Amino acid sequence: MQEILDRIENAYSFIEEKTGGLRIGRGIILGSGFSEWSNQLKHLYNIPYSDIPGFPTTSVAGHDGNLIIAEVNGIPLIIMQGRFHYYEGHSMPTLSIPVRVFKKLGVNTLILTNASGSINKHYLPGDLMIIRDHINLVQNNPLIGRNTQAYGTRFPDASEVYDRDLHDKALRVANELGLTAHSGVYVFTSGPAFETPAEIRMMRVIGADAVGMSTVPEAITACHASIDVLGLSLIANLGSGMADHALTHEDVMRTMDKVAPKLHFFLEKLMDLTSETS
Ligand code: HPA
Repeated sequence: MQEILDRIENAYSFIEEKTGGLRIGRGIILGSGFSEWSNQLKHLYNIPYSDIPGFPTTSVAGHDGNLIIAEVNGIPLIIMQGRFHYYEGHSMPTLSIPVRVFKKLGVNTLILTNASGSINKHYLPGDLMIIRDHINLVQNNPLIGRNTQAYGTRFPDASEVYDRDLHDKALRVANELGLTAHSGVYVFTSGPAFETPAEIRMMRVIGADAVGMSTVPEAITACHASIDVLGLSLIANLGSGMADHALTHEDVMRTMDKVAPKLHFFLEKLMDLTSETS
């Protein structure tokens, strides 16, 4: 635990010094297929993860590894271009590091993005899901271990992990843009194997709408730290057994590439929305 706290401190001090103590109110973690968006912004700083002492590093195709501080509508935004996953072998507490560093830098609103597979039969590839709630099927949690009160309470309430107001506004913006968007429940699995058809059927029974291998560790850490979270999931494929072909990572990336322009437009609009509250 001390090791994790030291890593958070080291990463924070490094970034704080590099940015001259800039306070940053908003953050976004860009998952598979969302990363490109940040390339069109005005960057103030662009720091490879490998330069940041204490920060984890990533290895997945389709995931870059840069911490970007950009200016959007005249307000700083901190961006993770690429994220860390449980299936890469990171421990759950390691996955808490970036969000806690964000918190120390001043982040109070965090957008989490990902690609997922549909479970709900009405959700089709290319649709957006605004995350209303989640189910953690990985019986592990980033908050396990000695609690550090400075980051939050021992037993955090999880009745509203995803801020209702941000959720409602995001859904409204998506509808205004003519995107097909749903309000749904995201189920987190460890991966890296995709699900079996039986698992998808079980997930449907327990109330999940889409499945993925990320986001939940970050959302729990943010909830603990009283950060408002907006979760966005892009349905990249039908869940295992729902289509007549096998599932590959390339399929996921192909859908993401196809919908990238409309996703970018949506993120731009969302920035206007969160500018009002920062
Ligand atoms: N399952 C799990 N994770 C995913 C999927 C999926 O079908 N698609 C994209 N990420």
